[in-house]
Amino acid sequence: MQGLEPIGEGLWSLRRVNRISRWPVHMSSHMTVVRVGGSDLLLHSPVPLAPADIDALLQLGRVRFIVAPNLYHYKFVAQARAAFPAAEVWAAPGLVALHPELQGSRELADDHPLVPAELSQRLVLGHAAHETAFFHSVSRTLILTDLAYNVGREAGLFETVFYWAHGAYRRRRVPRYHQRLITDRARFVAAFEALLRWDFDQLCVAHGTVLRTGGKAALREMWRFVLAA
Ligand SMILES: [Fe+2]
Repeated sequence: MQGLEPIGEGLWSLRRVNRISRWPVHMSSHMTVVRVGGSDLLLHSPVPLAPADIDALLQLGRVRFIVAPNLYHYKFVAQARAAFPAAEVWAAPGLVALHPELQGSRELADDHPLVPAELSQRLVLGHAAHETAFFHSVSRTLILTDLAYNVGREAGLFETVFYWAHGAYRRRRVPRYHQRLITDRARFVAAFEALLRWDFDQLCVAHGTVLRTGGKAALREMWRFVLAA
């Protein structure tokens, strides 16, 4: 089992495969770990953590923030919170109302950035995910969750079929169902254009692998059907 992968200065990625039903059906996702404030850590979109993962994180620093960045990536927040009880939990707007077990977490808000000196953040309005995007300036990385995909040969059988069926396997596309998730195209495009003004090259995604370079062009391509409409 591969552990934390360094992907930049003060930045790591951790991929874990989760069983998503009582049938042997698996999907993978990534957590991004950001060093903040010198020796603290922010866990973005937690994945299920094995004891070795928790040890590795403890070696890196003190977990200060746990972030559920959109309405869909919250399932392993409780486990991360139990492992790092001193951490503040920050959740996408509306998430706590949907999942009361996340009581005690605070809502992500653009006017209350978590670590303004190191991470810019912006809520992407007009999309049902209510996702907050993060920009890590030191490594020129845009950290997204379900607003970008890079699914390739690392995918398991179910994932391969799933993303292939939705037009996003080994292609610069978001799965087709995102067309139905856009609730306000104008707001979405405005928010998205703001993300594209950040000076990033690397792109972190929840599903697939990190795009180490060329992330901006890839992201534009993924959403071309909306941006150019
Ligand atoms: Fe996802």
